[in-house]
Amino acid sequence: MVEVIVTGGAGFIGSNFVHHVVAERPQWHVTVLDKLTYAGNLQNLSGLPEDRVAFVHGDIADADLVDSLVAKADAVVHYAAESHNDNSLQNPRPFIDTNLIGTYTLLEAVRRHGVRFHHISTDEVYGDLELDDPNRFTEHTAYNPSSPYSSTKAGSDLLVRAWIRSFGVQATISNCSNNYGPYQHIEKFIPRQITNVLSGIRPKLYGTGLNVRDWIHTNDHSSAVLTVLEEGRIGETYLIGANGEKNNKTVIELILELMGKNPHDFDHVNDRPGHDMRYAIDSTKLRTELGWQPTFTDFRSGLADTIDWYSTHREWWQAQKDEVEERYARVGQ
Ligand code: NAD
Ligand code: DAU
Repeated sequence: MVEVIVTGGAGFIGSNFVHHVVAERPQWHVTVLDKLTYAGNLQNLSGLPEDRVAFVHGDIADADLVDSLVAKADAVVHYAAESHNDNSLQNPRPFIDTNLIGTYTLLEAVRRHGVRFHHISTDEVYGDLELDDPNRFTEHTAYNPSSPYSSTKAGSDLLVRAWIRSFGVQATISNCSNNYGPYQHIEKFIPRQITNVLSGIRPKLYGTGLNVRDWIHTNDHSSAVLTVLEEGRIGETYLIGANGEKNNKTVIELILELMGKNPHDFDHVNDRPGHDMRYAIDSTKLRTELGWQPTFTDFRSGLADTIDWYSTHREWWQAQKDEVEERYARVGQ
């Protein structure tokens, strides 16, 4: 039996990884360590067999708790984070505590106990690209983060690199592009617009909406992380992406069209301060070295399935909708 700790396993992407591991690795046992912030939801883990998944409610910055769990583990896959750029512009402090101090706390524990560590990160550490730049991000792109969120993720990556080099920690890092799919918190772009339409609210586009994000289905992110965890070279970084570049205006229009509405029925609202223009991932290293391929390459059909999920799971998001929209309304978004 392999014992794997998944931090942030009650969130959007972490819970998807837990489901993926339970399905794909019958000999593994998963312990989810999650603080259940506003973004964590135990319903994301429902239906999983109790003998395969344990849940521990706690903070990754709690050194005693983390030490006691890591002492019994073979590997830690570290998803837990404050993950939303807009929140980091209003109140950066939780991002420092979780993304930096929390990651530091985990690194010290895996260092003490000689446990394999995989760090989940983002393409946002590289800053942004111009719309007409022929280049995409690679593992060699210089770090240049823009927001409090992305700078704390960049800082956490650098801590991992330092713990690898200075202390010989057995770690890998992956930096992924924008995920979409079921169970994503409704503060994020795609679920916010879908649940707006379902609630009779017009979708909200920041600024011109020409900003480009490189969309990947969260199932593909999970299969890539499992590949890196098992086959990645220690000390290496792997970029994860599925060639899914789309501008935000196109995505809003597609959501409206797929939901049977007029594609032009959306509002332009205040832009995000410091808004990154474009992210684009070159995942050649992961594909050629480890043989990984995405399977959800049809964005239109993945988006239609995601719309269907939010339409049929109102109970999962309805209670948070008013509060999320009030928060955005206060800053004209
Ligand atoms: P999320 O906000 O949906 O979930 C985060 C989870 O972490 C929640 O369950 C929350 O309760 C938990 N958590 C937060 N602080 C904690 C703490 N101090 N201790 C323990 N648990 C804590 O986030 P997500 O979108 O699923 O992102 C997961 C990871 O993937 C993050 O590290 C994020 O930076 C990274 N990432 C996200 C994307 C994306 O598109 N969402 C893309 C690339 C990388
Ligand atoms: O690139 C990976 C990152 O993707 C992850 O590291 C982050 O955790 C994740 O939240 C995501 O960050 P973004 O800031 O790109 O995602 P978000 O869903 O907040 O916004 C996507 C784009 O849509 C961005 O250009 C801002 C815009 N937007 C967002 C919202 C919420 C709108 O136009 N309207 C909106 O209502």
